[in-house]
Amino acid sequence: MCGILAYVGHREAYPVILKGLKRLEYRGYDSSGVAMIHDSIKVYKKKGKVAELEEFLMGKELKSTIGIGHTRWATHGEPSDRNAHPHMSNSGRIAMIHNGIIENYASIKQDLLSKGYKFNSDTDTEILVNFIDDILIHNSCSLEEAVRVALKRVVGAYVIVLLDEENPDTLIAARKGSPLVIGIGKGEHFLASDASPIIEYTKEVVYINDYELAIIKSDELILKNLGNEKITPFVQQLDLELSAIEKGGFDHFMLKEIYEQPKTIYDCLRGRLDIAHEDIIMGGVESQIDKLKHANRIIIIACGTSWHAGLAAEYIIEELCRIPVEVEYASEFRYRNPIVNKGDVIFAISQSGETADTLVAIERAKEQGALIFGVLNVVGSSIARVSHAGAYTHAGPEIGVASTKAFTAQLVVLTMIALKIAKEKQSVSHDRFVELLHELNALPEKVEKILSDVSSIQSIAAKTANANSFLYLGRGYNFPVALEGALKLKEISYIHAEGYPAAEMKHGPIALVDESLPVLFVATRDAYHEKVVSNMQEINARKGKLIAVVTEGDKTLAAFTKDIIAVPAADEIIAPILNVIPLQLLSYYIGVSRGLDVDRPRNLAKSVTVE
Ligand code: AGP
Ligand code: GLU
Repeated sequence: MCGILAYVGHREAYPVILKGLKRLEYRGYDSSGVAMIHDSIKVYKKKGKVAELEEFLMGKELKSTIGIGHTRWATHGEPSDRNAHPHMSNSGRIAMIHNGIIENYASIKQDLLSKGYKFNSDTDTEILVNFIDDILIHNSCSLEEAVRVALKRVVGAYVIVLLDEENPDTLIAARKGSPLVIGIGKGEHFLASDASPIIEYTKEVVYINDYELAIIKSDELILKNLGNEKITPFVQQLDLELSAIEKGGFDHFMLKEIYEQPKTIYDCLRGRLDIAHEDIIMGGVESQIDKLKHANRIIIIACGTSWHAGLAAEYIIEELCRIPVEVEYASEFRYRNPIVNKGDVIFAISQSGETADTLVAIERAKEQGALIFGVLNVVGSSIARVSHAGAYTHAGPEIGVASTKAFTAQLVVLTMIALKIAKEKQSVSHDRFVELLHELNALPEKVEKILSDVSSIQSIAAKTANANSFLYLGRGYNFPVALEGALKLKEISYIHAEGYPAAEMKHGPIALVDESLPVLFVATRDAYHEKVVSNMQEINARKGKLIAVVTEGDKTLAAFTKDIIAVPAADEIIAPILNVIPLQLLSYYIGVSRGLDVDRPRNLAKSVTVE
C-alpha cells in the first residue's frame, strides 16, 4: 500500500514527485503530501487524491532539488490532512514518509510520551520518526546511525525515506517487507515504490533488500546493512516501456487492461507452448521437475483474485496431475501453525509479488523446508526473491486496482504448469495433452472475439446497475469464475455480490432470491451443464433475474432468460479463462454507469503491503 516517491538531483523536485505520485496513486489514494528543503523543511499535505494536493499547491513557490512524497492508504488513523505523510519530528530536523506498519509503535509511543514528545497525528509513522529523532539527540550520532539503531528495535514492515534539514543534499532510506526501487540517473536519483514513475528518466535501477539502508546523494548511492557494512548495489536494467503504464486512448486503465488480454495471453504462451514438438517449455518448472512431479501435496497460497486463480488451479492440477492440492488464504495459513511436510510444494500466486500476507506465509513455509514456487507478474518482486523457482505471467504492469489481465495470465500459466507436470508424470494421455495445447493456443483469438462485441454485456449492465445485491453461481471449473465475478463487482460497483457453487446455493443463499435479485450463472457447456440448468430452474421458479454466460450456439437457456452472454466454445479446463472476461466487463460497465472511479475504488489499494 501507499506510493513513495523521493528525488535528489539537479531538477526541481516537486514536478518530478507530483508526476511520480500520480503514477503510484493506484497503490493508495486517501491522502498525499510532499516535503522539500528550502532553507528549512517545508511539508504540504492534503486529504484526498493527488489532484487535490496539486490544486492546493498551485502557485506556491516550491524550489528544491531534493524532496519526498507519499500517497497514503491509511492503516493507523483516518484519512485526513494531519495523518497524511510526510511526518515531522518534534525537533523539526527530519521529515519522513513510510509505507507499512510499525507493530510495536504503542510501546515506543509510551517511552516518547514520558520524555515529553507531542504527536500531531494518529499514525505509527509519526512515532517512528520521533523515535529516530530521540536517538539522534541523545546519542549525538549521525542520522544514518540513529535510523540503524531505531530499526533494530522496530517490529513490523516498512519502507522509510527521510529528509534531513542538517544534510540537505542527502536522502536516507531503508526497507523491510515493503518494496523500494532506486533509479540511477546522471547526477540524480529517484526512489519509488515501483519502477513505473522511474522509467521515463532512467532504466538503470537497484532494488533494495530487506534490512538494507541506502544513503543517497545526487551523484552517490551507498548501500549498507543494519550492521553498518557496505553492500555493492546490484544495478539492473528495467524491461518496461512507458506506453505499458499509460492509458493509450482508453477511458480507464481497467478497460485498457481488459482489452489487452488477447495480447497478454499470447505473451504468456509465447516461447512456452511448443505446438510443433507437442511440448511445453518452462524453465522454472523443468528446474524443479523431480520435486514437482513427486510432490505429496501442493499448497497454494494467495489472496483475493490470485486466490481465485489458485482455486481454479486446484481443480486443474488434481485432474491432470493427480496430486492433492490445498488452496489457502495467505493470511489464515501463516497464523495457524500449518503443517508443512517434506515433499510438500508451495505455490505462491501474486500479481504484485509484494502482498504482505502472501510474502510472510511463504517465508514461514520456506523455514519449514518446503519448495516455494512463485507464479508472479512483477519481475524481481519480493515474493520472486523469496521463491526457489517459478514462472512469470508476463501480463505487463497492471495499474487498475481491480485485477483483470493478471488473473487470466495466472490461469494460463497455472494450466501450463499443470500440463507440464502431468506430461512428465505421465498422468495425462498424450492425446489429451496435445488437445489442451491446441486449446491454449486458440485462446487469444477467442478472447478477441468476446471483446469484439460487448453489446449484450452493456445492456445487462444498464438493466442491473441499480441492483442492491447480486449472486454469481457456477460449478466445477466455473465455481472460481463465479467467485471472481462477484469480487470484481463488489470492488468496482460497491454492489454486494456473493459467489457460490451453484448447487450449494440451495443450502442458504436461495433465501435471498426474489424478483429484484440478479443471479448470474456461469453456464458454459461442460460435464456439469445439465446440473447447472437444474439449478437455474430453481432460481427461475423463485423469479430471480437470471443472467447466463453460455457457450455460443447453446439455445437451452433461452427458455429462462434473454440476458445471455455468449462466449466461444472451449474445453472445460480452459473455459474459465474466457468466461471471466464478460464478468470483468460487466462490473466495469456497471461501475462506470454508477459514476464510480473504477481504476481507484474506495478503500482499496493495488499492492497490499500491510498484513
Ligand atoms: C483484485 O481485484 C484485488 N484488488 C485483490 O483481491 C488482489 O487480487 C489481492 O490483493 C492479491 O494481490 P496480489 O495478486 O498482488 O498478491
Ligand atoms: N502506517 C502508515 C499510516 O497509517 C503508513 C500506511 C501506508 O503504507 O500508506 O499512515
